[in-house]
Formats: sequence, C-alpha cells, structure tokens
Amino acid sequence: MAEAPEPFIRIRGLKQSFGDHEVLKGIDLDIMRGETLVILGGSGSGKSVLIKHLPGLLRPTHGTVTVNGLEISQLRERELGAVRRQMGFMFQGGALFDSMSVAENVAFPLREGGVRKEKEIAQRVAEALEIVRLPGEEDKMPADLSGGMRKRVALARAVVGKPACIFYDEPHAGLDPITADSIDHLIKDLQRHHQITNVVITHEMRSVFHIADRIVFLDQGVIRWTGTPDELQATQDPQLRAFIAGDSGEPWND
Ligand SMILES: Nc1ncnc2c1ncn2[C@@H]1O[C@H](COP(=O)(O)OP(=O)(O)OP(=O)(O)O)[C@@H](O)[C@H]1O
Ligand SMILES: [Mg+2]
Repeated sequence: MAEAPEPFIRIRGLKQSFGDHEVLKGIDLDIMRGETLVILGGSGSGKSVLIKHLPGLLRPTHGTVTVNGLEISQLRERELGAVRRQMGFMFQGGALFDSMSVAENVAFPLREGGVRKEKEIAQRVAEALEIVRLPGEEDKMPADLSGGMRKRVALARAVVGKPACIFYDEPHAGLDPITADSIDHLIKDLQRHHQITNVVITHEMRSVFHIADRIVFLDQGVIRWTGTPDELQATQDPQLRAFIAGDSGEPWND
C-alpha cells in the first residue's frame, strides 16, 4: 500500500497562551505540499497567532510545528533563518516601508537572507514584479501606489525569495472586489505555475470559493470544521452557515 504523502507542515497539539489567556487550545493540522489552505474564523479566534507559528515567529506554549520534516519549535533564531527562507509572508496590514522604493521593499528579504550581488538582486526584484504584474515599477514610492498595487508589492516581497510556501494574512482587506479578484488570480497562479503551497487567512467568502482546495474554520482557538469548498457550501452547521452569510443573528427590522 502506498504511504500517505508527508505534509509540508505538520502541527500537533499546538497551544498558545498569553498570560492566562489561552488563545490556541490544541491545534492539529497538516498542510500538504502544493495545496491552497484557507483559514476562516471570527475576529480574535486565533488565526493570526496560528499563522505566526508556521515560520516560528512565536514559540508554542505546548505542541510542535514540523516544517519539511524538521521540528522548528525548539530551533534557535539562526537555524530558523534557513527554515524561513523557504517561506514568504504577507502580514496582516501588509505594511511596506514608506521611506523605501518599491525595489528596496521587494529586495528586503533577499538582503536579510544575505544576498549581496546587486545585479542578482535587481534581476530577482524585476522577476518578482513581473509575477505580480507590476513590471518596471521599481522606482515608485509606496505613497504613490493604490491600495491594490501596495498589496501586489507586498506579494512581490513574499515571492522574491522563491519560497516553497506563502502565508497571507488577510490579503484582500481594504480592496475593491475586482482588485481582490486579481489578488486571487495571483495566488492561484503561484500555486499552479510555481508549485507554491498557500496558506490564506481571509474573510472574503467569494475568494474562499475561488482559491481554496481545503478550508479550516477556527473558533475560540480550536479547529471546529475542515472541508472542501463544496462541503462548505453544503454544510448545515448553523455557526458556519451564519459565518458564510455574514449573519450576526441580530434583528434588522426593529
Ligand atoms: N502577542 C500577543 N500578546 C497577547 N495577546 C495576544 C498576542 N497576539 C494575539 N493576542 C490575542 O490573541 C487573540 C487572537 O488574536 P489573533 O490576532 O490571532 O486573532 P485573529 O483571529 O487573527 O483576528 P482578526 O480576524 O481580527 O485578525 C486575541 O484575543 C489577541 O488579543
Ligand atoms: Mg488576524
């Protein structure tokens, strides 16, 4: 019998407390190589905290995170550097450095990772801007860009290190529906043409149905539900249905 494929990231028994506030209460999750996994959940459910564990930006209170066969929760900062070079991030808010040009923003992870040759940096920045469909925009300053363009620059910065995996924390926030859709196309292109594993936190249900291969629903620090987009469409779980419909349960006709 064929063995089940190794997940790219394996999370087991992950708990995270801040003081006496237990935010993650025991997460078990496998993220498979090449999939687009969407993390859903209400505000404060622990999505950002969970995603910050994947590159080892937080240390688990309990449990393990294994990336590509390597248990990262006990690694030193220096050893984590090598793990993080396989990963790209688009953080919540997606802030660019306002005093740096587009090129300098995108080059940032390369320089952090020790790439020194200016010619190589320029070439990789150009390729990353090509991928996010902003070719030739190197010299612009963030203040001169629209919200959607800033998101694409943040995505170029996530892509420039040729990562195996990209984490996106609310990449659609603040975008109009059409610009959000173009971000979804980029996310799927990265998966299909660059074999990138995507982990996406979003509240944009339209995007979820466009991009997700698999969805997990986080509620108060536990995974309450896992399934495919079709299974989510068909679910009878009242809490999930309310979440999809954007219904808080409060009356409108008063
Ligand atoms: N560094 C920290 N120190 C203390 N508490 C924290 C820290 N980071 C997160 N928390 C708390 O953990 C809980 C979950 O936060 P998290 O940012 O993961 O929520 P979220 O699901 O991403 O919400 P949103 O959809 O609003 O972004 C919140 O109550 C938050 O205040
Ligand atoms: Mg968050």
